[in-house]
Amino acid sequence: MIIHVMDDYEQMSIKAAGIVADQVTAKSDTVLGLATGSTPEGMYRLLVEKHRRGMDFSRVVAFNLDEYIGLPPEHPQSYHYYMYHKFFKHINIPPQNINIPRGLADNFDRVCQEYDRRINEAGGIDLLVLGVGRNGHIGFNEPNSRLNIGTHVIGLTENTIKVNGRFFRSLEEVPRRAITMGMGSILKARKIVLLANGLNKALAIKETVSGKITTEVPVSLLQLHPNLLIIVDKGAASLI
Ligand code: GLP
Repeated sequence: MIIHVMDDYEQMSIKAAGIVADQVTAKSDTVLGLATGSTPEGMYRLLVEKHRRGMDFSRVVAFNLDEYIGLPPEHPQSYHYYMYHKFFKHINIPPQNINIPRGLADNFDRVCQEYDRRINEAGGIDLLVLGVGRNGHIGFNEPNSRLNIGTHVIGLTENTIKVNGRFFRSLEEVPRRAITMGMGSILKARKIVLLANGLNKALAIKETVSGKITTEVPVSLLQLHPNLLIIVDKGAASLI
């Protein structure tokens, strides 16, 4: 585990964008795993700027971590909408190389199996960018007595519903379920970059760095990963 403590959010974003850019430059057909949330927004903005200055994403394949169940792709709070508007529509990644778990389906078992099959067929994830929930969730792998290896549907915890409610008009509108990549694909990623900023992530980062490894704090499982880079601002680093 390597930890970079940056001065502020902007520096964290610059560092993260640089790592993604170096990866794509070194391997043009890189398979990226991508997170949503407020944390990586700056990184996406900087990657779009890099693309405008010539960075090529035409061979990149992307797999997003998660999506809310029940939101159509055009819903402003869906992760499809977020990824398209903040990143994908501004770069030259081919649409067929974009993978985001579907939030609407008749048969979610089939959707989950298909998602894992696609990740495997792509050769697994080269570089996975993660954020972390205040309760230690990654993707939507919520604290639990057991975690799933594969892509699965999960009920969101009250804490996550409350925290993510800030993006919705009311708490009632927050979906209660989500589909998420499982811990198997996450831990099999060849390199993981975990981003966190702000004091409200300090405890989760402490658990990541030195907490007991437990499924009750999913991010703590990252301690088992051989190639983990943590990039945090001073606030998120304040308890380590
Ligand atoms: C969300 C997402 C995660 C994200 C996390 C942190 O619920 N499912 O993928 O990393 O919560 O979000 P934020 O970056 O807004 O703090």
